[in-house]
Amino acid sequence: MLVINKINPLKAKIGALKRKGLTIGFVPTMGALHEGHLSLMRRAGRETDIVVVSIFVNPMQFGPKEDYKRYPRPVQQDLHLCRSAGVDIVFSPSDKEIYPFTARPFRTSPQASDTLTRTFVDMYKLTETMCGKSRPGHFRGVLTVVNKLFNIVEPDIAYFGQKDYQQALVIKQMVTDLNMDVQVKVMPIVREKDGLAMSSRNKYLTPAERQEAICLYRALLKATELICSSRRPVSAVKIIGAMKGIINSVRHSRIDYIAVVDPQTLEPIKTITYRQVLIALAVYIGKTRLIDNFLICK
Ligand code: PAJ
Repeated sequence: MLVINKINPLKAKIGALKRKGLTIGFVPTMGALHEGHLSLMRRAGRETDIVVVSIFVNPMQFGPKEDYKRYPRPVQQDLHLCRSAGVDIVFSPSDKEIYPFTARPFRTSPQASDTLTRTFVDMYKLTETMCGKSRPGHFRGVLTVVNKLFNIVEPDIAYFGQKDYQQALVIKQMVTDLNMDVQVKVMPIVREKDGLAMSSRNKYLTPAERQEAICLYRALLKATELICSSRRPVSAVKIIGAMKGIINSVRHSRIDYIAVVDPQTLEPIKTITYRQVLIALAVYIGKTRLIDNFLICK
């Protein structure tokens, strides 16, 4: 497995592999790897010739009061896991390599990301709700870095997790809107035995909070039960009410949002009839913000 920190040598290596006719599978990550990430790498290994993983904690997608500084960075362990998942190349650049711009920012909006880059990718509508509403500038950071990473790695297929449903959707939309030559695949959520969605941020939870964190999954199960057991259309208000009941019964929980939305447009659905619905939520357990979702077909 090759570990490369600089853009130019990585581009040269990938160029040489592509000239041999090999296909490139790409898994962008922020490290602190777990089975969720590894499932994407293994899938890439089955579907493409060369698997490239990026490990980069992207400062641009964190808000000023968020956990950028304390985000876990277990470098050696991550490299070991990549090796065990059959990864061919790990790209692990410094902040400077990705964001060389250091001049004083030209302020167009009061966001920390202005200090990192002059040029960015942003999107209307899909980024204005759910996580985009709670985390202003987050998707601008995600879209910009993923765009840069796609330009650097030039993958044939890029793999994302449904865990970050809105992220996968906005990335697909960017690829369509900007005519980018990459196929985006979205893979199922990998969970712990008790149902908690795997996340690098689960490491922040105390043992007591870890127990409480299953309330997200339990709330999603309850929503599924309500939707699937009823022969008649179910109102979103009823579903959200039941989910709130479960989450609020947990001591250290605070709901950021619960969304009952159209899976393509992320627009709210008031009444669930015979179509697909996305139930997504973000909940603080103590200071840790966790997200999860189910895509339900009635
Ligand atoms: P990160 O949170 O490290 O996640 C990297 C990829 O792993 C994402 O596509 C995410 O959806 C997927 N993933 C995380 N937990 C998962 C789980 N339990 N099951 C399946 N897939 C899971 O998402 C990011 O990094 C960043 O925003 C990034 C795209 C790298 C841009 O900086």
